[in-house]
Amino acid sequence: MARSSSRRSGDHREETDKHTGLLKLVQILSFLLVFVAGVVIGLAATWHINRKMAFNYHPEVYSFVNHISAPGNCTSRRTVVKPVDCLSMEAFLRPINVTHGMSDEELFWRASMVPKKKEYPNQRRVPKVAFMFLTRGPLPMLPLWERFFWGHARELYSVYVHSPPGYDLNVSTHSPFYGRQIPSQKVEWGTATLSDAERRLLGNGLLDFSNERFVLLSESCIPVYNFPTVYKYLTASSHSFVESYDDPSRYGRGRYNRNMLPYIQLRHWRKGSQWFELHRALAISIVADTNYYNLFCKYCRPACYPDEHYIPTFLHMFYASHNSNRTVTWVDWSMGGPHPALYRKSNITDDFIRSIRNNGTHCQYNSDTTSVCYLFARKFAPSALQPLLNLSSTVLEF
Ligand SMILES: *[C@@H]1O[C@H](CO)[C@@H](O)[C@H](O)[C@H]1NC(C)=O
Ligand SMILES: *[C@@H]1O[C@H](CO)[C@@H](O)[C@H](O)[C@H]1NC(C)=O
Ligand SMILES: *[C@@H]1O[C@H](CO)[C@@H](O)[C@H](O)[C@H]1NC(C)=O
Ligand SMILES: *[C@@H]1O[C@H](CO)[C@@H](O)[C@H](O)[C@H]1NC(C)=O
Ligand SMILES: *[C@@H]1O[C@H](CO)[C@@H](O)[C@H](O)[C@H]1NC(C)=O
Ligand SMILES: *[C@@H]1O[C@H](CO)[C@@H](O)[C@H](O)[C@H]1NC(C)=O
Ligand SMILES: *[C@@H]1O[C@H](CO)[C@@H](O)[C@H](O)[C@H]1NC(C)=O
Repeated sequence: MARSSSRRSGDHREETDKHTGLLKLVQILSFLLVFVAGVVIGLAATWHINRKMAFNYHPEVYSFVNHISAPGNCTSRRTVVKPVDCLSMEAFLRPINVTHGMSDEELFWRASMVPKKKEYPNQRRVPKVAFMFLTRGPLPMLPLWERFFWGHARELYSVYVHSPPGYDLNVSTHSPFYGRQIPSQKVEWGTATLSDAERRLLGNGLLDFSNERFVLLSESCIPVYNFPTVYKYLTASSHSFVESYDDPSRYGRGRYNRNMLPYIQLRHWRKGSQWFELHRALAISIVADTNYYNLFCKYCRPACYPDEHYIPTFLHMFYASHNSNRTVTWVDWSMGGPHPALYRKSNITDDFIRSIRNNGTHCQYNSDTTSVCYLFARKFAPSALQPLLNLSSTVLEF
């Protein structure tokens, strides 16, 4: 604007001084005019923006400030209602409470989940041994088991108890058995409900992602080695310990039913003790199996017992190389008859327990042999508890 006025003044160089003065006055006035107009426009714009701010933005700012600075409500909200992290990793990896409302079908579906990602998030995974007690009620050997677990980190083991529905295991809050009763159902020995209960124990144990080995025990079982020995033996083993053999007699092959064809052939048929020890991967396969299990439920009925045939046959068919084919639970069948020997108070001696721990024979362990063949033993009557407690520090070493 200044340049155009100077050009104009140059064009009219020959005009009189009066004209020149007038022109300058007009220039100054026009400058003033532009300046004042600018100021007015500026002020108007500022006022407009302020007004917009006042009406459109301030309410939000105020409500925002209210949320932060109303101390009574916010602090109380924060302390009273704790934020519940429904998807917390901790609760997912290590459920602390074993109670739930899942049906078996729902439980087995959840328990069969396998993380595709191998690395554990944030921390090293410490493998746990799950001790699963399938009981008919009380646990007479409880004090011996409590002594066995005493002093060992809870990160190394978990306890699960399947007892008749409604039975309340009365233990102190410090006991490893406290709050460890899983949702259970009625079990009739000799029927498929027994295998159902075993699978239910496995399913519940699998919900804890740290559980790596799964031992099935009864109320008449005792540990014959201390916890560190048992833990190391199981977690370092490349095989599971499920007895699985071909019995040509009527108590073995004689129980096979041709209706299981073509899925299960006679050459697949195996027998073994119910008291298994399973690696996590095999436990998952067992809870995930529906087809083979249904065949056993349908066609393995007395005198066929699914608890003696289902797992030994299933592992033989699909995981033979993962199984040691022997059991780590000692039992005495030497008396003959349908039931193994029961040991009472008068039968418990140093030498007897020592012979279970090591009788001079060797067993295969990984690619080597070991004198430790059995970690647990059955069957022990409640009266055997006191003499066993007497021996625990000397012979059993716990
Ligand atoms: C706290 O919030 C509740 C509604 O959530 C309201 O009724 C109450 O008046 C508020 N109290 C204070 C002190 O702001
Ligand atoms: C549980 O055991 C404690 C101590 O042994 C005893 O005092 C209590 O009465 C028992 N409770 C039930 C319900 O049996
Ligand atoms: C487990 O959860 C159930 C129901 O959610 C509750 O009644 C019970 O007290 C809990 N047990 C423990 C040991 O926290
Ligand atoms: C267990 O038996 C299976 C056959 O059922 C065999 O393949 C496997 O090698 C045996 N396991 C061991 C450790 O010998
Ligand atoms: C236990 O001891 C009793 C009496 O001493 C004896 O009759 C019985 O045969 C023993 N039981 C076993 C399984 O050794
Ligand atoms: C040791 O135990 C094994 C397995 O129970 C048995 O086969 C063997 O005969 C026993 N040996 C002795 C010397 O008692
Ligand atoms: C346990 O040992 C003590 C002494 O060490 C003895 O007095 C007691 O009779 C023993 N009890 C049993 C049931 O063996």
